[in-house]
Amino acid sequence: MTSGVVCSEPTLVLSKIDTITQNFFMKLLPNSFRALVIGSSGTIGAAFFDLLKNNPLCSEVIGIHRHSEFPIDYQDFQTIESCANALTARAPFQLIINAVGVLHTSKWMPEKKLDDLHADQLMELMRINAIGPALTIRYFSKLLDPHNSIMVTLSAKVGSIEDNRLGGWYSYRSSKAALNMLIKTASIELTRTKPNTALIAMHPGTVNSRLSKPFRGEQIGRPANQAATEMFEVIKNLERKDSGNFISYSGERLPW
Ligand SMILES: NC(=O)c1ccc[n+]([C@@H]2O[C@H](COP(=O)([O-])OP(=O)(O)OC[C@H]3O[C@@H](n4cnc5c(N)ncnc54)[C@H](OP(=O)(O)O)[C@@H]3O)[C@@H](O)[C@H]2O)c1
Repeated sequence: MTSGVVCSEPTLVLSKIDTITQNFFMKLLPNSFRALVIGSSGTIGAAFFDLLKNNPLCSEVIGIHRHSEFPIDYQDFQTIESCANALTARAPFQLIINAVGVLHTSKWMPEKKLDDLHADQLMELMRINAIGPALTIRYFSKLLDPHNSIMVTLSAKVGSIEDNRLGGWYSYRSSKAALNMLIKTASIELTRTKPNTALIAMHPGTVNSRLSKPFRGEQIGRPANQAATEMFEVIKNLERKDSGNFISYSGERLPW
């Protein structure tokens, strides 16, 4: 009887396995990196932009938003592809952070009860919190460095289905849950096509921002620069094995 696989060079095979294992646990963010912040006009996006601009390891940071030179507006999905195309010449990036998101708009406040649920609100939040960021992963992942890169999309712990104890906020919760699924699904595909890239859904914690202001954000939220610093501490230690996870600003892995 012979076994199905005959290996004449076991040492070579073992050293290949060693390399694969080492890569799996290797930090992804290199010592010198280029970064892109999407939604750099927002409170947390601007804090990330400033943090990276002042980080000596970050050789260049570009910020884009609805009114930047190459605009990105989730009310017009075409801008996602055109903005990514316009930035191709400035690629590759080792870090992309997407800090776009809405909780309330001039028209809508988060639902307190089922009777507040409106199709238009649900669709608008799905558009901005889930569909836009997913298409951003589609087009901007092409700008990521295939050798080592990270794309972080800001999600929210209230998007966790398992962690939902209070109810309410139907549109925001479900749009972030949809976002989480889109990130997870894309991360599985990228494991095959871009094995040295990590896609992460990140919860920033409560931050004093435009988004949180109507919900006592000033009282209960921490400053955006503190939140960005805490999240960056987590980001710089991310490894390939972390791809496809929902991670908090403290580094804790959150339930889906
Ligand atoms: N603050 C918190 O406590 C908290 C907690 C959990 C999760 N988060 C998440 O963290 C992220 C950042 O929130 P933030 O607190 O920094 O909010 P923010 O200050 O309101 O910033 C929101 C960002 O989203 C952009 N945006 C809104 N609608 C857009 C659209 N149609 N197309 C493109 N960009 C659009 C805004 O652009 P403009 O400047 O042009 O409006 C801005 O850059 C969001 O994903 C949010 O869900 C925040």
